[in-house]
Amino acid sequence: MVMKVLVVAGARPNFMKVAPILRALERAGHRRVFVHTGQHYDASMSDAFFRDLGLPLPDRHLGVGSGSHARQTARVMEAFEPVLEEERPEWIVVVGDVNSTLACALVASKMPNGSGGRIAHVEAGLRSDDWGMPEEVNRVLTDRLSDLLLTPSRDAHPNLAREGIDPERVVFVGNVMIDSLLRMLPHAQELNVPQRLGLPEARYAVATLHRPSNVDDAVQLRVILSAFGELSRDFPVVLPLHPRTRERVRAFGLEPLLEPLRVLEPLGYTEMLGLQAQAAVVLTDSGGLQEESTVLGVPCVTLRESTERPVTVSEGTNRMAPWPLASDTLIATARAALSQGRTPVGARAPEGWDGHAGERVVEALAARSRHTA
Ligand code: UD1
Repeated sequence: MVMKVLVVAGARPNFMKVAPILRALERAGHRRVFVHTGQHYDASMSDAFFRDLGLPLPDRHLGVGSGSHARQTARVMEAFEPVLEEERPEWIVVVGDVNSTLACALVASKMPNGSGGRIAHVEAGLRSDDWGMPEEVNRVLTDRLSDLLLTPSRDAHPNLAREGIDPERVVFVGNVMIDSLLRMLPHAQELNVPQRLGLPEARYAVATLHRPSNVDDAVQLRVILSAFGELSRDFPVVLPLHPRTRERVRAFGLEPLLEPLRVLEPLGYTEMLGLQAQAAVVLTDSGGLQEESTVLGVPCVTLRESTERPVTVSEGTNRMAPWPLASDTLIATARAALSQGRTPVGARAPEGWDGHAGERVVEALAARSRHTA
């Protein structure tokens, strides 16, 4: 039975998650409608990912852009409603935890008589238990609104059970983001990104920073950048800078702290993967990099109070920086991670992080369609 499936992406961390789902839908002969909300719009935050991942052009582009959480979420909702009314898909697939994810799930859930189709959330059940984090609000509410909850790791299941979600609605599919990683890794390595940047082989750190809790607070940002500066006495610290962080550094007058670092513009998907794959250590507050470094076998230090991806610590290469962050303990943790050394690609990959999660997503949708046909 051919299904009509609408797939939503909005922000940078969504693109590598929808690529394998769109591909698997096409291979299985289903009708797909690809919607880009336009939450991210810069060439480096959006276009580069379409090019690198071979994504099809969106069938619908909502062009919402930046704004406060309320404005951004409201704009996505307003623009998405007429699209859904016209398309009337059987399934709406939302991924991850960004504002676009929740906004589209909320619109679909309120269409009259279920005419918005059923909602499937890919990357369901992750919890940081940090309610001050906008993504945590998006995760919990999107899961509550979804008909089918597709989880990336087994630890998501008790989280959902605790919230009273019927286990019948929950299916383990594994990690779609790793489908993109394994598919693109050979090409990423061929790009020789570290060599082109003049970096010593496997003797540099890759750092990323964009969480509001880290970059919107001048004291916190100073602590982190000072620690990076200190570490850069031993080896280069490469920092592709998110637009939010660049703006905050300028507003707080912290530019001198960037001087010892190798600051870059945000990188495209393949370049970032190539850079990460050869790194000695990753220092990050991103969710995606915690997962990618685990599969790449690169030690990772997470600069957050908690992680919604504990499997990267229990089974992977990730460790949490001591909290509250302080320069000296952060430096010590980074040095300990470095001395842990790298492991071969895939050696620490959790169950279902195997390059076939996109296919399992489509199978789960199809099985539910048959189930209820
Ligand atoms: C969003 C996601 C976050 C994800 C991150 C990856 C939410 C709540 N947050 O955070 O989970 O990890 O994307 O990047 O959805 N900007 C640009 N160009 C762009 C996009 C953003 O300059 O293409 C700047 C704007 O000043 C904007 C700011 O970055 O106001 C923040 O963008 P926004 O989409 O609101 O959130 P992110 O911090 O990127």
